[in-house]
Amino acid sequence: MHSPGRTLRNSLFFLVLTVACAALPQLWAQASPKAWSNQSLSPDERAALVLKQMTLDEKISLLHGTGMVGLSPMSPLAVHSNGGAGYVVGVPRLGIPDIQMSDAAYGVRVSGDNGRYSTALPANIAGAASWDSEAAYAYGALIGRELRAQGYNMTLGGGVNIARELRNGRNFEYMGEDPILAGTMVGQLMKGEQAQHVIGDIKHYALNDQESGRNAVNVHIDKRSMRETDLLAFEIGLRDSHAAAVMCSYNRINGDYACENKYLLNDLLKKDWHFPGFVLSDWQGTHSTVKASAAGMDHEQPGEIFYGEAMKKAVQSHKVPESELNDHVQRILRSMFASGVVDDPPQKGVVDVEENLEISQKIAEQTIVLLKNDHGILPLDASKLHSIAIIGAHSDVGMISGGGSAQVDPAGGNAIMPPGKGATHWAEEIWFRTSPLKAISAKAPNVKVRYDAGTDPSIAAALAKNSDVAIVFAYVWESEGMDLESLSLTGKQDDLIAKVAASNPHTIVVVETGSAVTMPWADQVQGIFEAWYAGSRGAQALANLIFGDANPSAKLPITFPKSDADLPHANIVKPPVTSTTKDGDTDAWKKIAAGLPPFETTYDEGLKVGYKWYDAEGKQPLFPFGYGLSYTTYAYSGLKVTPGGKVSVSFTVTNSGQRAGAEVAQVYAALPASAGEPPKRLVGWSKVKLNAGEIKEVTVDIDPLYLSIFNAEKDAWQKVSGDYTFMVGASSRDLPLKKTVNLQ
Ligand code: BGC
Repeated sequence: MHSPGRTLRNSLFFLVLTVACAALPQLWAQASPKAWSNQSLSPDERAALVLKQMTLDEKISLLHGTGMVGLSPMSPLAVHSNGGAGYVVGVPRLGIPDIQMSDAAYGVRVSGDNGRYSTALPANIAGAASWDSEAAYAYGALIGRELRAQGYNMTLGGGVNIARELRNGRNFEYMGEDPILAGTMVGQLMKGEQAQHVIGDIKHYALNDQESGRNAVNVHIDKRSMRETDLLAFEIGLRDSHAAAVMCSYNRINGDYACENKYLLNDLLKKDWHFPGFVLSDWQGTHSTVKASAAGMDHEQPGEIFYGEAMKKAVQSHKVPESELNDHVQRILRSMFASGVVDDPPQKGVVDVEENLEISQKIAEQTIVLLKNDHGILPLDASKLHSIAIIGAHSDVGMISGGGSAQVDPAGGNAIMPPGKGATHWAEEIWFRTSPLKAISAKAPNVKVRYDAGTDPSIAAALAKNSDVAIVFAYVWESEGMDLESLSLTGKQDDLIAKVAASNPHTIVVVETGSAVTMPWADQVQGIFEAWYAGSRGAQALANLIFGDANPSAKLPITFPKSDADLPHANIVKPPVTSTTKDGDTDAWKKIAAGLPPFETTYDEGLKVGYKWYDAEGKQPLFPFGYGLSYTTYAYSGLKVTPGGKVSVSFTVTNSGQRAGAEVAQVYAALPASAGEPPKRLVGWSKVKLNAGEIKEVTVDIDPLYLSIFNAEKDAWQKVSGDYTFMVGASSRDLPLKKTVNLQ
């Protein structure tokens, strides 16, 4: 028999057991280091579970990199780096992986140093010239796959600074002069990249529109202008991609460094745009602990000058509130969960090199712009030619690429060096082994194709004279850390082209540049291609276009002016010599960290960036924004504009020529006069594929944001009531369809 006391004890025991069992999942969730592994929880919930268990030291370690030679002291832990630009120690105790970051603008960087392979895509500006969202996504997806195969889980690509200054040496890494085009393209690129499960990044936030004195310059610009130009590109890119990270830039904006700029980071990015991810500094772009942290900067790279021991002390002394520290950490953790790098870490492997080269070539075919085609000289018909002269720009062996931290190491080494000796160095001309001479010869096996280096224009001209057609290659090399002195071709290339053109009227010029270039010889030649920096398979893509196996469809994402004199500023404002650091100064990082004395520049063209400047100032460009030819012709008709929540613009495009092609049909809007805007802005486009003779009805729905202006006083976007004129056509200066509607 059970005694009543014993029965009561047993009952109590079972009651406690039942309650404990019911509460177990929760208790377990709080205690288990892997509680976050429940994938049905949101990234924020999972991050919060991890955060709760972290020590102060673990939190601090997520807030900085482990150093970089020449840029900051090195931590012994840096030996675990995968060889990329940034390495962050994870929290192995809690199952949080390291963050391995690599630069990856047009392909994965420093593969050479690490004994790996990377495919180079056409430069980012070329990507923008495709105006093709699917191509941008495929571009990003390729980079994402190659990052993972090399063991990286975070990209530092995603450059979207506006080409406000055409001489900016990094324009090749960016997406052109229009915020809507640039934002859309970088958004698709980053979406494609993050879909492969890497942490995405958009940079350099913001107004890092020149390289000269980038660590010191103080950019003055009014709020409305920055919101409607540079910042709009970021706003769209982040909205469309949900990129997990934003890199703040080196420069100051209206007084404060970008990486301690409360307006840009906390007020705009995190509050207004609801950005849930984390802000990391450009390499050595951090200049303080308390100020940067309070402004909203979450993570220092490449070392721990301000966000290591200094941050720990600041937290312990309550100069940085614990809630602020936790917010930084939460953002980094949630980004890791959201991008999939915790659940699906990268596996090293060999990418499908053949497939990726094919993708790079197909994208290049969509990015090379045909600027001139007099008398239908192009496409060339090999069966009608006896001889072709190929001249200049190392076109016997390769095509140029853009330098600096975007640099992709060419498979096989630098093409202009002997095989096996092709090491690549920072800020040095690197040529990819994609030979125009070979690619063109392959298309014309029965034609005598001869090469001249172009070093002596008269020898080149003599070869051209004895050839049916002359194709002259010319280039301008761009790199991070420098700006162009002018938009002219460097050296004697203008002279070379003029002399060749004078000796053979059938001259075609291929320019390889990362920005616009002036062409004093444009009237003397029959054909012009802008090939940009065309990537690993540039020559094959170009040859397909030259011989008509592919039909050009790219359009300029920047305006090509007639001369430097037409630019908004005569010169780029450069730092006084005393405020810069010198090469070989091993302590330069200390001076930069301490903050270099500012020098001022004012971007007073304001809203008038790119074509808006030429429209407003009544200047005729050499080639306008949005311009590019095809081997077929297109006709536009039947414009209808339907007002509504989203204004809907429909029209008909007809392929009126003999070949299949793709037309980038562009929609511009002139806002009511009271809006105080430049004469027109791009508000949408559609890339339409059409067979010969085919007719398509196209509808472009206009995002209301793209018809708005920024009201600086109210700190808000605003629609202006009145007459809006919608214009549709093939470029910003070829808009045959026009309709005005009243919008309230
Ligand atoms: C560049 C960044 C780059 C970083 C890491 C900096 O010099 O401005 O774009 O991501 O270095 O290489």
